[in-house]
Amino acid sequence: MPLTTTGELVTRAHAARTAVAAFNVVTLEHVEAVVAGAEAAGAPVVLQVSENAVAFRQGEVLPLARAAAVAAERALVPVALHLDHVQSDRLLDRAAEAGFSSVMYDASRLPYEANLAATRAAVTRAHAQDLWIEAELGEIGGKGAHVAGARTDPAEARAFVAESGVDALAVAVGSVHAMTTRTAALDHELIGRLDAALDVPLVLHGSSGVPDRDLRAAVAGGIAKVNVGTALNQAMTRAVRACLAADPDVVDARRYLGAGREAMARTVERIVVGVGLTAT
Ligand code: G3H
Ligand code: ZN
Repeated sequence: MPLTTTGELVTRAHAARTAVAAFNVVTLEHVEAVVAGAEAAGAPVVLQVSENAVAFRQGEVLPLARAAAVAAERALVPVALHLDHVQSDRLLDRAAEAGFSSVMYDASRLPYEANLAATRAAVTRAHAQDLWIEAELGEIGGKGAHVAGARTDPAEARAFVAESGVDALAVAVGSVHAMTTRTAALDHELIGRLDAALDVPLVLHGSSGVPDRDLRAAVAGGIAKVNVGTALNQAMTRAVRACLAADPDVVDARRYLGAGREAMARTVERIVVGVGLTAT
């Protein structure tokens, strides 16, 4: 299926009051697993590469991006490529040529005015490349030493979207990045107020820590893009560990990487089906 765009998937989901799942990929096994899981669920999906993942790939964005693009083109479901949590202008400026249709620009660590100024500049750079751009207001936390508990104010969000020109907004509503238990409690009343205050789609980050029932309620309340990363790494690590423990003599990397890939694919399917993100 030809590569689709994040803007198209999220816009369609937003109009239908549903959401598209977006999974962070670090290795080729992640890419293959996300596509396989989405195909098993019969759902469109976004493959996300974060700036941190690019750093892990020794600063090279193209090898993983190109692999993701080929996997997306061969998928039986619509797949889009998204560059996630970008802070570097240099990386932002290379997004379109690397095959991404969208970026998330992350200046949420900055005070409001500085976040707005940086995001406005990023919107200009992104739109010049015909990219759909998401930004964050109200730091979601969990990446580093940040405290959980930040919340996005609806009135501030409305002004931020109007003045920055972003196409979607990541909001702080109770989720926290990199949780390994699904115990986050979302503020559904706030999601409803943000949805009412904004015309652009809302994005939920840190969704690995949110139970299915809360994710379903969040989507019903206006979240149109659900970002998941840690859940895949948990599934992969657990499967690799079990494979190595079951056979301490194993040397063929395909054995444990294959087990990891299989476990991630099942996780993708379980989340997409469990949260009801199968609409195309
Ligand atoms: O942008 C990526 C997501 O926010 C992933 O968060 O690893 O906590 O699921 P997570
Ligand atoms: Zn995130």
